[in-house]
Amino acid sequence: MNASKQYIKQHQDRFINELIELLKIPSVSADPAFKDDVIRTAKAVKNSLEHAGCTHTEICETPGYPVVYGERIIDKELPTILVYGHYDVQPPDPINLWDSPAFEPVIKKTDLHPEGAIFARGACDDKGQMYMHVKALEYMVENDDLPCNVKFMIEGEEEVGSENLGWFIKRNQEKLANDVILISDTGMIAKDVPSITTGLRGLSYVEVEVTGPNRDLHSGLYGGAVANPINVLTKMIASLHDENKHITVPGFYDKVEELTKAEREKMGEAPFDLQKYKDAIGLNDVYGEEGFSTHERASIRPTLDVNGIWGGYIGEGAKTVIPSKAYAKISMRLVPNQDWEEITDLFQKHFESIAPSGVTVEVKPHHGGQGYVTPIEGIEYQAANDAYKEVFGKDPIPQRSGGSIPIVSMFEEQLQSKTILMGFGLDTDAIHSPNEHFGIWNYLKGIETIPFFYKHFTKLKTQ
Ligand code: BES
Ligand code: MN
Ligand code: MN
Repeated sequence: MNASKQYIKQHQDRFINELIELLKIPSVSADPAFKDDVIRTAKAVKNSLEHAGCTHTEICETPGYPVVYGERIIDKELPTILVYGHYDVQPPDPINLWDSPAFEPVIKKTDLHPEGAIFARGACDDKGQMYMHVKALEYMVENDDLPCNVKFMIEGEEEVGSENLGWFIKRNQEKLANDVILISDTGMIAKDVPSITTGLRGLSYVEVEVTGPNRDLHSGLYGGAVANPINVLTKMIASLHDENKHITVPGFYDKVEELTKAEREKMGEAPFDLQKYKDAIGLNDVYGEEGFSTHERASIRPTLDVNGIWGGYIGEGAKTVIPSKAYAKISMRLVPNQDWEEITDLFQKHFESIAPSGVTVEVKPHHGGQGYVTPIEGIEYQAANDAYKEVFGKDPIPQRSGGSIPIVSMFEEQLQSKTILMGFGLDTDAIHSPNEHFGIWNYLKGIETIPFFYKHFTKLKTQ
């Protein structure tokens, strides 16, 4: 047994219990009611970094929630790895669909996690995956096995768009200077199929508001004679896709990176079981853009989805009313070369242009970010590849993910460094959903693999 495996085995119960304690704090960044808990979590993360061996730790204030910073600089001549993660979590809603309370972590066995999985909001996204790095550092420090410098930047606003992280990075370029950024906030294909995420989609998030009459009206007295904002909004939304499920916003696809046939064929080699995919989410069929596979639709193609829609009377019983207003929240997932601000602009112009007379339409841009692709030719990828190979006994598969971590493209812009995404979650871990969980096997495997990245990256960088 190698040294790290042995150390992990010896300390695994404590590693699990420490994570459980962190998961008990409800660090929901979206809801101001949890403000004290979010700040309490930042302090807990700072403490854990200190205990793991950071020689300097700090809670850095921003206009929003603080960034937790930690470092262990062993030799200025050696490379520096910057670990990024987030300590905030998604709201637990809908809470009645959880089998056990979201912030009372429990370990349960599942088909895919026979060794047990920790069920709690944030277990996988991202407290569990972030904490793997803290424990990997502890191992390296305790065993005199840290080959390079390390910095941690753990933020508290990822789930609400990282709106102040750009502000923080711009003011702390020197402090954050690094040779590579390492993140565990994505997934892997399967426990026996190691993979490295090489792409993230960009995002444009908007809210739309359709206004008809200046007050809610009696639907008998006025019905049929005035535009109903909900009828209008749903029709406008329906028109945003054509019969081939292409998005109809003019210019939307102009800059989309088209993969070559060879690249698509290579992608198609990654194991993907359509039946299992459907079964896992209870579907009788899949749906999506003509001419692309499910795997492609969810990774290399852009999307437009309504995330929420409301208006009118939704209380008990019936109320005959034509509402004054209707609303929707819409997200567009973007692929390389699409610029999120440009897409937001195109959407706004188009949506306003299709509004019929009788209503007014307002589009309010929320947040967004660019997509990202990690080159597989660089030493960063090579180091990650070698790390997985050493632990899993085979080369990992590069895979593009459909999710977004908008700050990654900003890292490259501001800090001139590449990001390596070593994710250990499974798609079935239910991140953002009720019953989110993280496999104990995955957690420990992550802790085991991370030090090998340090080793191989340092070797490749200094040779
Ligand atoms: N960790 C996720 C992103 C993710 C998950 C990427 C799995 C790839 C695989 C992250 O916390 C997240 O949820 N991001 C948001 C974007 C953000 C602006 C709210 C997303 O993708 O919806
Ligand atoms: Mn995350
Ligand atoms: Mn998330």
